Amino acid sequence: MHYTARAHTNIALLKYWGKVDEALITPTTTSISLTLDEFYTDTTVWFDKSLQSDQLILDGETISGSAAQKVSRFLDVVREMADINDKAYVVSNNHVPTAAGLASSASAFAALAGAASKAAGLNLSVTELSRLARHGSGSATRSIFGGFAKWVPGDDRTSFATPIFEKVDWPIQLLTVVINDQPKKIGSRLGMQHAKNTAPFYDMWVRLANSQVNDMILAIQQHDIVKLGELAEANALQMHAMNTTSVPSFNYLTDKSWQVIMIAQELREQGIPVYATMDAGPNVKLISRPEDTFIIKKELANIVTSSQIIIASPGPGIKVTSGDKI
Ligand code: DP6
Repeated sequence: MHYTARAHTNIALLKYWGKVDEALITPTTTSISLTLDEFYTDTTVWFDKSLQSDQLILDGETISGSAAQKVSRFLDVVREMADINDKAYVVSNNHVPTAAGLASSASAFAALAGAASKAAGLNLSVTELSRLARHGSGSATRSIFGGFAKWVPGDDRTSFATPIFEKVDWPIQLLTVVINDQPKKIGSRLGMQHAKNTAPFYDMWVRLANSQVNDMILAIQQHDIVKLGELAEANALQMHAMNTTSVPSFNYLTDKSWQVIMIAQELREQGIPVYATMDAGPNVKLISRPEDTFIIKKELANIVTSSQIIIASPGPGIKVTSGDKI
């Protein structure tokens, strides 16, 4: 049987940046995210007795090397759960605007978890799916759910994401400012490992990040974009500041990233709630209200062209269908 899953990517409002267990991908902190409608991955999986090895076709191209190995290792987890040995075809298409530089392992491994588990004959609950997706990539754990989700530390059994509010019926958007669409020099897996191993303030960051969780949940419950934005921006800047204190130091943000962060600050001085968050790259994502899009774009016009601005709204959770179409 073919199964196809669509999973959307997510932006972390409180970041996951470090693992307790590298193999199991369990995090040092609780992270909170918003799933986005604009960016998603469609993945179709079927197992085939006649195959000698797993086959990965990504955006129309057959893939080998480390990306294919990562997928095969993930499929091994599924095969073990389902008690099967067959190899699989994995056909995956990323729907991320090409210029965005936002290609994300979150939507990829969430979609793979959904399609592969079904194709293997498993009928997993969303909790089980979230736990499975975690074996591919930490952030994928949260992409099983729509809207706001929370992923907690724990062991292999207890570390998974749960929804906070899947349906977001209040005005919040993520405006991505594309500063560089090239793959990042230091991937998040390596970056967070290096920070955890060498940053003198890492333990402090863990305490700080965990102490922001309840306030973030409250801000979400109260639809309070100011509180939510303040916490998200502080958390992101704390993560990036910590990276610069790693030994040797590393840094994802460029002068242009800082210009955008400063624009958010200036807009706030005018009473417009705009807050910046950044992941493992220079692109800045502005948490904002749809009604402020025009003025934000106007302020950004000196720095980027309008094609470098991508707007996303809250998105849905994973959807799995039989066959190869969603
Ligand atoms: C900065 O989920 O890509 O986006 O678990 O090693 O695959 P692995 O890392 P990944 O890291 C995401 C880091 C982040 C913050 C976040 O999404 O929480």
